[in-house]
Formats: sequence, C-alpha cells, structure tokens
Amino acid sequence: MIPVITIDGPTASGKGTIAHQVAQALGWSVLDSGALYRLTALAVQEGGVDPADESAVAGVASQLDARFDGGGIWMAGRDVAVQIRQEPVGNLASRVAAYGPVRQALLARQRAFRQAPGLVADGRDMGTVVFPDAPLKIFLVASAQARASRRCKQLKEKGFSANLASLLQDMQARDARDCSRSHAPLYAAPGAKTIDSSNLTIDATVQAVLDYWSRV
Ligand code: C5P
Repeated sequence: MIPVITIDGPTASGKGTIAHQVAQALGWSVLDSGALYRLTALAVQEGGVDPADESAVAGVASQLDARFDGGGIWMAGRDVAVQIRQEPVGNLASRVAAYGPVRQALLARQRAFRQAPGLVADGRDMGTVVFPDAPLKIFLVASAQARASRRCKQLKEKGFSANLASLLQDMQARDARDCSRSHAPLYAAPGAKTIDSSNLTIDATVQAVLDYWSRV
C-alpha cells in the first residue's frame, strides 16, 4: 500500500507550506486538494455559471482541465496559480465545496495522486473521506489571529491588497461553513495527531510531522 500522510485543518493554518516541506523531506509528491476547489470556483466565475446551480457547478468540476507541475497550476493551458489564491476565489471555493456532487466529482482525481513512493495530501477531508486508510493523519490548527496575519502577509507578498480585519471576518465565516456543512465537514479524523502551529516555526512544525512519521 502506498503511504499517505494527510494534513487537514482550517483555512491558513499552514497546511500547504507544511505539506510541501514534508513531501520534499520524504521525496514524496503532494496533493493541494483546496486548489481543485479553487479551480472549480474560478472556472464557475469565468464561465458565467450560476454558483447556486449545484448540478451545473458539479459539471464544471467533473470537466476541469487542470494540471499541476512544479509550482504551476494550469487550467485550460493558463497558469492560474496566483489567480486562484485571491480571496473572492477562496470564498467561492468554500461555497461550492459544500455541494456533495462537486465533492464526488473531484474524488477520483484526488485519489489518483496516490503514487509511489508516497503522498502528502492537504485539505479538509483528506483523513476523513479521501484517504481514510492513511497511516498518519495530522490535524493542523492555529489561532484565528495567527492565521489571519499569515494570510495577510501571504497576500501582500503576492502583490494583492489585504486588510487584517476583513480577512479575519472572512476566515471565520469560511471556517464556520467548512465545519458545519453536511458533506465532508472539517473535523479531526479518528486517530489524527493535532498540532497547534500558532507559536511554532515552519521548521518546527515540519519536524513534528516527521517525528510522528518516524514513529508510525
Ligand atoms: O485550502 P484552501 O483554502 O485552498 O481551500 C479552499 C476551500 O476549498 C476551503 O475553504 C474549503 O471550503 C474547500 N476545501 C474542501 N475540502 C478540501 C480542500 C478544500 O472543502 N479537501
């Protein structure tokens, strides 16, 4: 069985950064599952599809022409890695991610990332739904304040304008929606190891995951 380490947690808890560094340390590949929901949202937005039309949005998700290579995230031949990080796309992603048929449409695509020698998968339901047999499941949390400041810094570094108070508000709304939805809500998978990264450096958080892995 090809090993998977799942890293789930709320918005901006550092999952993406930690997943990439753990994958690099182990020589494994990485699945950024949030990017698939973000790509669906972007395609919905650009295609003029009604975001309230669940089956039309699921149709968009199942037809997604997406490719990940190195740092690039390609949709229909364009690198949209930066564009999908914008807050309106993230907010729409969280809306369409609540639709069961959208999640179903993306399931096989996510599982196809499980290739030797191993996979680090980050998202909300990696340990609960997509890879329930993963030998190591991490639930990565951080205080809302720490997460909002990190997201603010990240957006500014990418050249977007960002406001801490409105980010905090959006983030809390998104967390509430992700935790309360009926399809694949965000919660720690049974047996998951919780790591609170509020006061940890990136290196220390990566090391905590690798320590857990060495004990599996
Ligand atoms: O992780 P990221 O912020 O890129 O995810 C964008 C949105 O996609 C999240 O707010 C969440 O609603 C949704 N998502 C999800 N399940 C995943 C990954 C992301 O529902 N496995």
